[in-house]
Amino acid sequence: MDSTPFNKYAMAFLATVFVVMTAGILSDYIFDSHAPEKPGFIIQAAEAGGEGEAGAAAPAASAVPIATLLASADATRGEAVFKRCGACHTGEKGGPNKVGPNLWNIVDRPIATHEGFSYSGAIKDFSKGGTEKWTYDHLNHFLTSPKGYIKGTAMGFAGDKKDNERADLIAYLRTLSDNPQPLPAADAAAPAGDAAKPAEGAAKPAEGAAPAAPATNN
Ligand code: HEC
Repeated sequence: MDSTPFNKYAMAFLATVFVVMTAGILSDYIFDSHAPEKPGFIIQAAEAGGEGEAGAAAPAASAVPIATLLASADATRGEAVFKRCGACHTGEKGGPNKVGPNLWNIVDRPIATHEGFSYSGAIKDFSKGGTEKWTYDHLNHFLTSPKGYIKGTAMGFAGDKKDNERADLIAYLRTLSDNPQPLPAADAAAPAGDAAKPAEGAAKPAEGAAPAAPATNN
């Protein structure tokens, strides 16, 4: 019984210690929880800046012309890459439009003209009323950074920055046709963009890239 007052003091002391420690922990917690936010914010800002500067990123893509990339591309590997598109696109002849339009015959197809698909104003503007076509060059830039190349496009795909992977993919897109377009190095009569840089084509014969194209794939 004599110990009761002592216990009361002890409890009061412990309670005080508890409160002080709790306050300390809480303030640590509050302090700590602020600290990670700052770096996170900086990282996000850096990423946003990177995306915003798609124009600055473009030289990396155009540094290696698509004709050169395609010379060592592999349509079979590209078919695996195309799986990423499959959520939104079909690739087979007469396939349905999904979130995005069917991509049969996409190489050299007039931009934003697939029947039954409702395109964004941005890509329709880019197509200049359907007079612009999906040249290898356009595809290369668009698939590097869809929203960087066609600002405001409805295509919700971040882009594929890996040159080789993208070239494989484009080589596969080329096979989605009864009559695949010639590879750009092979003296394609490129109507719009590609005529400017013919130099690399001479170095590697385009035939080297051709045998992988699986004619029976679809
Ligand atoms: C999240 C859905 C989505 C994914 C994933 C996606 N796309 Fe698209 N794609 C779209 C939409 C939507 C459009 C129509 C764009 C517009 O109207 O601005 C489009 C348009 C296109 C066009 C232009 C078609 C035309 O008729 O002019 C091409 C080419 C294309 N996509 C290729 C691809 C490829 C290749 C991939 C995979 C690497 C891919 N897309 C991944 C949704 C997607």
